[in-house]
Amino acid sequence: MTTETDDLMKKLVSLCKRRGFVFQSGEVYGGLQSAWDYGPLGVELKRNIETSWWNFMVSTRTDVVGMDSAIITHPDVWMASGHLKHFHDPLVDCLKCKGRFRQDQVEGNVCPDCGGELTEPRDFGLMFRTSMGALEGESATVYLRPETCQPIFVNFRNVVTATRQKLPFGIAQMGKAFRNEITARNFIFRSREFEQMEMEFFCTPEEADRWFEYWLEQRLEWYARLGITDGNLRTRRHEEGELAHYASGCVDIEYRFPFAPGGWGELEGIANRTDYDLKAHMEMSGQDLSFQDQVSNEKIIPFVIETSGGIGRTMLAVLLDAYREEIVEGRERVVLGLHRELAPIKVAVLPLSRKLDDPAEEVFRMVSPHLPSVFDVTGSIGKRYRRMDEAGTPFCVTFDFDSLEDSMVTVRERDSLGQIRTPIDTLVNTLNEIMAEGWPEG
Ligand code: GAP
Repeated sequence: MTTETDDLMKKLVSLCKRRGFVFQSGEVYGGLQSAWDYGPLGVELKRNIETSWWNFMVSTRTDVVGMDSAIITHPDVWMASGHLKHFHDPLVDCLKCKGRFRQDQVEGNVCPDCGGELTEPRDFGLMFRTSMGALEGESATVYLRPETCQPIFVNFRNVVTATRQKLPFGIAQMGKAFRNEITARNFIFRSREFEQMEMEFFCTPEEADRWFEYWLEQRLEWYARLGITDGNLRTRRHEEGELAHYASGCVDIEYRFPFAPGGWGELEGIANRTDYDLKAHMEMSGQDLSFQDQVSNEKIIPFVIETSGGIGRTMLAVLLDAYREEIVEGRERVVLGLHRELAPIKVAVLPLSRKLDDPAEEVFRMVSPHLPSVFDVTGSIGKRYRRMDEAGTPFCVTFDFDSLEDSMVTVRERDSLGQIRTPIDTLVNTLNEIMAEGWPEG
């Protein structure tokens, strides 16, 4: 990492803590490495990303339904999926400094930290294993799911029976996943507990290639809707030797993460998983997970096109993309230029003076049932604007002494610093309009 990118990450991590987006987990005890807690603004931003994904992938479509499965899963799920066999990393240890590394991330057999000699590689399982049941010795081994998609495959028949969906159709799920990553680093980019947003689209084998291209396009459109700069996104097709054991084709959507080797890091993978998973679960469980066509009465095992992204990675991309420092009116300001749909706080209501707290609070009470808002009275008005700029709040409503006379307030927009004076009576309508259509030009 260059000093510049290292600096940017340090600044962003610091802003995330200062403004309450992300905290190091267990900080008062020295911190738990690569575990992160989302603070008051972080949880809102994360929820807005989740809602946007769910609306785009599920609520506004007739051919995708949702589900939410247990995190603790039956071991046979992972036996069938191939995780128990394939989901490890080869590790090497340094005989001199005792450092531990992924073999594929070191060159030769010399420690990258101290130059010491490295051991032969050993496999290290990436799944978190635990036991279920109170009696030691009698408890059953279970696993925390390392991806959200397997419970979708296992529930395929239940969903088809319950919803009467016809091919092609998808099942979507988002939620926690756990991987005992060897090298968990780069803030929320790679952690051991993280959240995925996955959709498995079931179709006939003949139509799989067409749906693959369709979903790749859809997913790129979703990232564009989050306001991510076009030039900071790219797609990368996997080479034959790079494909996961279940995939016949895969394209990654990558973001220009400043710390990523080569400048690009994976945000999401779009994969053709063929009929690998349904077949594997049919074999392991002995249950029929095929799909019966109502018209032809023919039974087929559908192919699956998967879209699999990470919520933490999307949030990091959105934050990096939005972060900027600029000089305004002779003073430096830090701004999170978040898309207004994603901003945790949409409106801050600010009295110009403490003498105006009461009537300004009435304005806050008018606005807050309609839009996520805060009422901030502490510090000079300039400081409060700066605070809101750093939180990514798109609109500040200032109540000044004239407001007492003319029943109007000033709305200030974060990016352009444009201002409009507008009647309090119709303020909610005005704000809703700006939220829907953007800040009026000119
Ligand atoms: N079901 C396929 C699957 O899980 P993956 O490439 O291993 O594929 C999909 O993971 C996405 O999940 C990644 O593109 C990334 O956004 C997210 N992800 C995976 N491992 C992660 C980790 N350790 N920390 C944060 N996000 C992770």
